[in-house]
Parts: sequence; C-alpha cells; structure tokens
Amino acid sequence: MKHPSMAKAINQFLLHLHPKKVESRAIVFNRTFGFGGIAALLFVILFVTGMLLRFAYVPSGAGAYDSIVRLQNQVIFGQLLRNFHYWSAMLLVVVSFLHLVRVFYSQAIYYERRKNWLYGLLLMFFVVSSNFTGYLLPWDQLSFWAVTIMTNMLSYIPLVGNFLANMIRGGEAVTEETLLRFYNFHTGLLPLLMVFFMAIHFWLVRKAKGVAIAPAEKSEKVDTSPNLVYKEALTALVVVAVLLLFSFFVDAPLLDKAKPLVSPNPSKAPWYFMGFQELLMHMHPAFASFLIPLFVIELFIVIPFLPYPKVNEGVWFFSEKGKRITILSAVFTIILTLLLIFIDDLLLDFNHWFPGLPVLITEGMFPVLLYFLPAGGFIFYLKKKMQANRMELVIASVTMILVAYLVMMFVGSFLRGEGMQLIF
Ligand code: HEM
Repeated sequence: MKHPSMAKAINQFLLHLHPKKVESRAIVFNRTFGFGGIAALLFVILFVTGMLLRFAYVPSGAGAYDSIVRLQNQVIFGQLLRNFHYWSAMLLVVVSFLHLVRVFYSQAIYYERRKNWLYGLLLMFFVVSSNFTGYLLPWDQLSFWAVTIMTNMLSYIPLVGNFLANMIRGGEAVTEETLLRFYNFHTGLLPLLMVFFMAIHFWLVRKAKGVAIAPAEKSEKVDTSPNLVYKEALTALVVVAVLLLFSFFVDAPLLDKAKPLVSPNPSKAPWYFMGFQELLMHMHPAFASFLIPLFVIELFIVIPFLPYPKVNEGVWFFSEKGKRITILSAVFTIILTLLLIFIDDLLLDFNHWFPGLPVLITEGMFPVLLYFLPAGGFIFYLKKKMQANRMELVIASVTMILVAYLVMMFVGSFLRGEGMQLIF
C-alpha cells in the first residue's frame, strides 16, 4: 500500500475541517483575522504543553510550588515549557475575546449563525474557566490571593453565592482541596468539554456554508488547498514562532510560596477579572458581582434573537454610520467611565450624605443611575440626532459595555496600588 506523504496527510486532515472549495473573498486575512483558527491552534498548543507539564507537576499543597521551582530550575527547557504554556493561555483569552468582537461587529451572529454565537459564548466561558483554574496551580502568593479574591466575589451572589463559592473552593477558604478541584477541572473536565463544543462550533460554521460574507461581495470559488491551507499554515507558523520567542525572553510570574495568612498589598484578581474588582470598588457587591454581570450575559445571549428590520451579514459595523457610531460610543464611554471612577474615588460618599437610606440604594442604585443616566442620554442622542436604527443602537450598547469593562480592567490593573488606592 502506498503511504501518503506528511504534507498530503495534513492536507487531507484539514480538508475534513473545510469544504473542498471556498469563496476567495472568505479567505482574505482581514475578514476574520484568523482569530478562530488561532484560538484552535492555541488550544492544541495548550493541550500538548499541558500534557508535558503534568510529568513535572505535583498537585498537592505541599508539593505544587516546589514542583514548579524544580521544573524551572532543574528540568531542561522546563522554564521555557512553562512560559510557553502560560503565555499561550493568556493569548487564548485575548484571541477568543477578539474573535467574539470580530463576529459581533462583522454581523456574523444572525440567522443560521445564532446558535453558533451561543456555543461561542459557552466556549468563552470555558476558556476563562480553564485559565482561572490553571492560575491557582503554581500555588504562589499571586495565584493563591487572586483565586481567594475571585471566589470571595462569588459569595456575594444573593441566595446561592456562598454555596457556589464553597462548592468551587471545597470549603470556606482556598485550601489544598481547592487546588485538587482546580487541577481536575483544569486537566480533565474542561479540556474535554472544550474539545466537544469546539467540534460542534466548527461543524456549525460549515453548516452555515463558511464565514459570513456580504451578498454583494460574492466572488468566485477557489480550491481550499492550497489557497486557504497555506494561509492557515503560515499564520500558525508565525503565531508559534512569536510565542516561542516571547516565552524565551519573558518568564511566567512566580512569587513566593502561598501564605494563607499573609495577603499581599494590593491583592488583585487575575487581569481579565480586574474589571469586576474595579466595579466592586464603586458599588454594592450584589450589583457588581451579580446583577450587572447577569444583565450583560442575558443581553449577549438575546442579541442575535432580537427582531431587526435589517441585518447586513458580513458588513463591518452594519454601515458607514454604524462605524461612526461605534467610534463615538467608544470615545464617550472611555471619558464617562474614567470620569466616574475618579469622581467616585475623590468626591462621592452617598452613605454619608444619605445616612437613613439602605446601602442597596446608596451603594447600588445611585452608582448604577450615575452610569446609566448619561449612557441612556447618549443612546437617546444617537437615536434622535443621528437617526440610528435598532441594529446600530445594539452595536452602540455592546460597544459601551465592552469599552467600560476594558477601561475598568485597565484602571484596576495599572492605576491601583497599595490599599487599592489610585496611583499615577
Ligand atoms: C476556543 C474558542 C473558540 C474557537 C477555537 C473558535 C473557532 C472558530 C473558527 C475556526 C471559526 C471560523 C473562522 C473564524 O471566524 O475565524 C469560528 C466562527 C465563529 N465563531 Fe468561534 N471560536 C471560539 C470561540 C468563540 C466565541 C467566544 C464566540 C462568540 C461568543 C464565537 C462565535 C463564533 C461565530 C458566531 C462564528 C461564525 C462566524 C462567521 O460565520 O463569520 N466563537 N470560530
């Protein structure tokens, strides 16, 4: 029997993922920026490097930290392996987010793609959960206190919060039991779930006949191999090369071994959760860690299912006006969010000014109104003055949510020092 060459075998495998022919416009790089494919590649890298890390890692309170130190100092390429895994994991969070942003703004989440948006949201949840559960494994001061802060935030959820936090931690505090749970989620259940849902995700892309393209843009069909396959291979090579180079020069952080009685000052959540920690500094925990996230998640779930007079599949920002509205919303939100953060830190003290009112009003309703009144006014302006239609208003609202979160993440990560005071 004749054996296919390596290149032929790879080609055949890739053709299982793609149709034989694709629209030439669909494979232009800046249609998708390859974010979905890069996310898939990063998952594979994480799987392989994770398998190797398991040979060195000891999942116990007494052994975890020392096993990481041993890996870094005594195993050949141990530090590089850990760096490669760590930076790939961080990049996967960023790339998945960019992919979400891409499919949203290029109107690729409507009609037959609606279900895939939901599977995508689920995948985003798994990506962040995988990162978060992995974060704890080095068992150093950074990871221990980041997980302590985040799981404490969960306990603010009304009624079920404590139960949920205790279930995730395996007790009232972060202990070795938490480490074991996280280890099992991180190396067992979560990768399995991701493989399963990624398969459905890819299948739905094929079912929708590939990525979204505006009907007016339809072009001739070309062979997937080599046209698309070469581009994918090149992108993969560049991503791996850049990541390896970065991992060679920049080490993944490792502080002192976890000390459950000595919290660092400031204690911060992982960077992608810093937006929530910042929000928590400005309003009641029931709002910051429950009501507002719940509102945003629900909004993201229903967006593709709302009735729209018109959808422009594959057209970035819906229209030229949509593009201007997106930029305007982003600028407005950056200014509003920064302004409110500084005003709240320096001036506002509703509790003091209204001592008779319940904290849910002074620390919940008031700050929320302070944000939503100007934001609502801005949406009203877009509708009345710029004649924005429903789709453009949805784009503006999502932009405001995403940008507000990014600004809070930035302030929390870079502008907060000791005692979480603002620093410049
Ligand atoms: C591990 C995470 C993910 C992987 C590996 C992945 C992979 C992919 C790939 C390869 C594609 C086709 C090409 C492309 O758009 O680049 C795609 C399309 C799509 N993805 Fe994802 N994705 C992930 C997460 C997400 C997330 C977080 C969302 C949004 C919530 C999402 C929603 C979609 C949608 C709606 C499409 C169809 C886009 C279109 O037809 O133009 N995906 N995904």
